[in-house]
Amino acid sequence: MSKVLILSGAGISAESGISTFREADGLWEKHRIEDVCTAGCLDTNEEGTKKFYDARRSDVEDKKPNYAHQVIAELKQKYPDDISVLTQNVDDLFEKAGMKDSEIVHLHGFLRELRCRECEEIFDVAYQSQDSFATQCPSCGAKLRPNIVFFGEAAPKYQMLTQELNSCELIVIIGTSGNVLDVTYFAQLTEHSILNNLEPSNAIDDSYFTKVYYAKATQAIAEIAEYIEDFLENE
Ligand code: APR
Repeated sequence: MSKVLILSGAGISAESGISTFREADGLWEKHRIEDVCTAGCLDTNEEGTKKFYDARRSDVEDKKPNYAHQVIAELKQKYPDDISVLTQNVDDLFEKAGMKDSEIVHLHGFLRELRCRECEEIFDVAYQSQDSFATQCPSCGAKLRPNIVFFGEAAPKYQMLTQELNSCELIVIIGTSGNVLDVTYFAQLTEHSILNNLEPSNAIDDSYFTKVYYAKATQAIAEIAEYIEDFLENE
């Protein structure tokens, strides 16, 4: 368990050119959650769901990490035991910034992976479409699916989030509207808290945060990193 928990959302990847979900022109304006990201949509709309994630997987191939991903990767390298990095994002920009699998937790799944619907084996397919990787599970022959947590499905890695929340002393929230994870509650659980979003969200009460930055993540991250380092060096 770590003293500092950094929890990010779609906003941290926005400046790398990946769409957020709930902002103007976001993904949930162009697609219905019920059609492509809800428990059961693999049965009612298998082709559409596959196509949606194939497009997103191919979209991230040429995307590059930005300064915020890089600074967080460097912080994690400098303070491996004191900092935990968890993200709601399914892109691989933290990995492209040099983080190892063991250094970053993807709470909502990972685009580059497919999972067997029966035996649950996970396959890293990089940026390939589902069908060009395989039409059936190479191990057991059952159907494959994106390794993404849909609304209404269990999110097994939330257990790690709960553990980190119970132990951290500083929580740093970057680029999430708080519609899925109740980050206001997380700030109430933690002694020190930082919020960085582009703008206020109706789902977040920023009065509970110790420090609030309404700015692009790439502009706020240097000051946030300084705060984290001061916190770890001086407590
Ligand atoms: N820097 C910092 N924050 C930014 C930036 C930026 N450059 N651009 C946008 N933001 C902020 C917005 O102000 C907004 O609060 O990022 C947030 C994006 O919110 P959402 O689109 O709702 O994304 P997120 O909170 O990550 O969504 C949570 O919802 O559909 C699911 O599973 C999906 O993981 C996702 C979850």
